[in-house]
Amino acid sequence: MFCHTEHNRRVFLGRFVLRMESAVEVQRGAAAIKEQFLTTKEKFHEFLASGRPRQSTDEADGDSEEPSGEPEQKRVRLDSDGDEKKKKKKRGQNKSRPHVKPQSYEDRRLCPSIVQERDTKCFYGEKCRFLHDVSEYMSTKAADLSDQCYLFNSFGWCQYGVTCRFAKAHTSPELKNLRNQDFCRRSAVTVRNLLDKELQRRLRKKQERFPGAEAYLKTVSRGEKPASNQEENLSGAGHTQLEGCFPDTMTRCAELLNLNIDVDFVDINSGCPIDLVYKKGGGCGLMTRTSKFEQIVRGMNSVLDVPLTVKIRTGVQQNCSIAHKLIPEMKKWGVSLITLHGRSREQRYTKSADWEYIDTCSKLAAPVPLFGNGDILSYEDAMKARETGVSGIMVARGALIKPWLFTEIKENRHWDISSGERLDILRDFTNYGLEHWGSDTQGVEKTRSFLLEWLSFLCR
Ligand SMILES: Cc1cc2nc3c(=O)[nH]c(=O)nc-3n(C[C@H](O)[C@H](O)[C@H](O)COP(=O)(O)O)c2cc1C
Ligand SMILES: [Zn+2]
Ligand SMILES: [Zn+2]
Repeated sequence: MFCHTEHNRRVFLGRFVLRMESAVEVQRGAAAIKEQFLTTKEKFHEFLASGRPRQSTDEADGDSEEPSGEPEQKRVRLDSDGDEKKKKKKRGQNKSRPHVKPQSYEDRRLCPSIVQERDTKCFYGEKCRFLHDVSEYMSTKAADLSDQCYLFNSFGWCQYGVTCRFAKAHTSPELKNLRNQDFCRRSAVTVRNLLDKELQRRLRKKQERFPGAEAYLKTVSRGEKPASNQEENLSGAGHTQLEGCFPDTMTRCAELLNLNIDVDFVDINSGCPIDLVYKKGGGCGLMTRTSKFEQIVRGMNSVLDVPLTVKIRTGVQQNCSIAHKLIPEMKKWGVSLITLHGRSREQRYTKSADWEYIDTCSKLAAPVPLFGNGDILSYEDAMKARETGVSGIMVARGALIKPWLFTEIKENRHWDISSGERLDILRDFTNYGLEHWGSDTQGVEKTRSFLLEWLSFLCR
């Protein structure tokens, strides 16, 4: 963590704080640091040079005063002595620290039949592992976080009922979930790729049939090449991306989406670099398994009524790009659009994306549109990228760092938004998070953890 103020600059490094200038006055807006956490540059370098000079003597003495009296297990460790016992004790986190995350919601959850105040009794009866007594549930429920529920205020009712962490806003004294009748509109459909519960149940029980996929898979097993079913308009709004490495599952999944979900196009993720995916042959791994890749594209295309697009990287290894060889093939298979991330799997997200290569590939892809992706962080980057032969650009981390980047690109200008507007965006994020993940404890926890993940991008 770095903290800069005009008159003094302090650098936090583990438990050490370097005082860069001597005059320490607490400025407005600057966090004061306790005296025991301060050290000098010299002491810090001494510490780095010799492992843990002061600490070791202190520990030997059993003296925990210097520098902070902090718990032993929290101290910075640079040594690697052979003392296993000592090592064991030192390693790891401070497990005795009380966990702030509530665990109780997992084992003391209220049965959905009660949350939703269904007329019919719980299907599982005695065997149901959830609570059915609202008062019992309320006796251990964590306190409300505020007296206003965003969902209730926005949609006139809150589907999380008494489990909502803002439930007081919509709970009667009899613990009934209230509705605002004057203002009860159906919640706006913000997620279009959800499968309904009954379909999910049929899928789990393997009761769902995939005639289109079965027909395609039969042709594959006979060694035939079905005709491709290409070329539609990409209107852009909703899409779903699939990652997988088997033609049968990918084709069935595409059929499932085609029949049940309202999306404008379906994308194959053939750019994912992570081991878990790659080692199974999926993600970026598909790029080197051309015959499987072809079967996947042709199979999915045979069951989809919307366009099929593909996202790829330059290749697997850094100095061995293969996208330019794959693109002419993909055109034959019938992809409607290709997005090329100008980095290899080996590169992950390091070093700059290769826009010269993207340009070359865009020409090979024509007339199939190719979108370029990588390092579009400003409107200038977008303008430069558009000077290449690409048909469009895809923004990724830029949108996490600066969610208003799209306006900057559209209007060709920088836009340094005010702190008030930035706070509005944060508030919107949390509200949308509650809407998407839920306003019960589980949803609140999820919203918080994704908020933290996103905040780590905002400060770049
Ligand atoms: C946190 C994170 C998650 C990502 N998830 C996906 C994903 O699910 N599918 C995908 O095609 N690309 C995914 N990407 C890759 C981006 O789409 C993009 O190709 C990459 O970040 C390079 O673009 P950039 O330099 O503009 O960030 C992800 C990237 C990040 C940083
Ligand atoms: Zn139940
Ligand atoms: Zn609520």
